[in-house]
Amino acid sequence: MLDTPARETGTGSGTTWTRKDLLDTDSLSREEIDLVLQTARGMKEVRSRPVAKVSTLRGVTVATLFYEQSTRTRATFEVAAKSLGADVVNLTASGSSVEKGESLIDTVRTLEAIGTDVIVMRHFRSGAPYLAARHTGASIINGGDGTHAHPTQALLDLFTMVNHLGSVEGRRVVIVGDILHSRVARSNAWTLLRLGAEVTLCGPATLLPRWFVPEVPGGGRCTVTTDFDRAIEGADVVMALRMQKERQQRGLIPSLREYIAGYQVNARRLERAAPGALLMHPGPMNEGIELSPDVAHGAQSRIEEQVANGVAVRMALLYLIAARSRS
Ligand code: CP
Repeated sequence: MLDTPARETGTGSGTTWTRKDLLDTDSLSREEIDLVLQTARGMKEVRSRPVAKVSTLRGVTVATLFYEQSTRTRATFEVAAKSLGADVVNLTASGSSVEKGESLIDTVRTLEAIGTDVIVMRHFRSGAPYLAARHTGASIINGGDGTHAHPTQALLDLFTMVNHLGSVEGRRVVIVGDILHSRVARSNAWTLLRLGAEVTLCGPATLLPRWFVPEVPGGGRCTVTTDFDRAIEGADVVMALRMQKERQQRGLIPSLREYIAGYQVNARRLERAAPGALLMHPGPMNEGIELSPDVAHGAQSRIEEQVANGVAVRMALLYLIAARSRS
């Protein structure tokens, strides 16, 4: 048996983690999500110790394999793995044999051949982690694939919300911005609906895919609207998304000025939300576009907390996934 911080802090829930990979949140059950949150609570306690390190994953090798830029996801996974005593290998497409034409399949098989147990990967193509997972015995954690999914971001966002609200059941969460290109919005919608939240996806019509209206049997509701001033009324959580200029074809919004006029979260708009509403953003921010600087750094902003919680949640996921293969 592994020496688990979760067990030390008594957070076992009776549910066990059985998945080799974490590719999205769409198929996670309520019990699995609760297990991640409970385990992350134990990890947060570990992070608060004077020496924020345990040896739970000693002998485990974690590789980060990033084909696209990242600050938060890559850094927090590295800190998370090292906090659990794992060995870490960091690879980016630039500077690796990917530049010489090595395929994704050969790359993950190479990492497996050198003893890698868990590969955290980010790829600019939607679906790439699914392909990788089929061709390696190592576990794959999706650190963001194209416009499709970002499951660890959704779980750390949920952890942050639950820490403040107790539960998201019946709570109103408004996700505003470039929904069309947002893997964060998609993965968040699945976890939030599963736990009974009322989710509103809001943005300009050209950035709002009406075909993406997720439904979870027995879960909360999802609505789609272009009217942000109405959507934010009474919201418990307001999550602004980055305008993904690098993924947009030209001409999806008339101008940034018009976008700001209709969709920027500013002090005037935030006043319309529920008192003490949580203001969130997955980062990186285009400050002055999605959020006005005063609210981005104001009392309701949970943005830095999201980043810090990313370490605890990613420790939990590494632990659950690595422990499954070692038990
Ligand atoms: N939120 C997020 O995925 O940030 P990075 O791109 O910096 O990893």
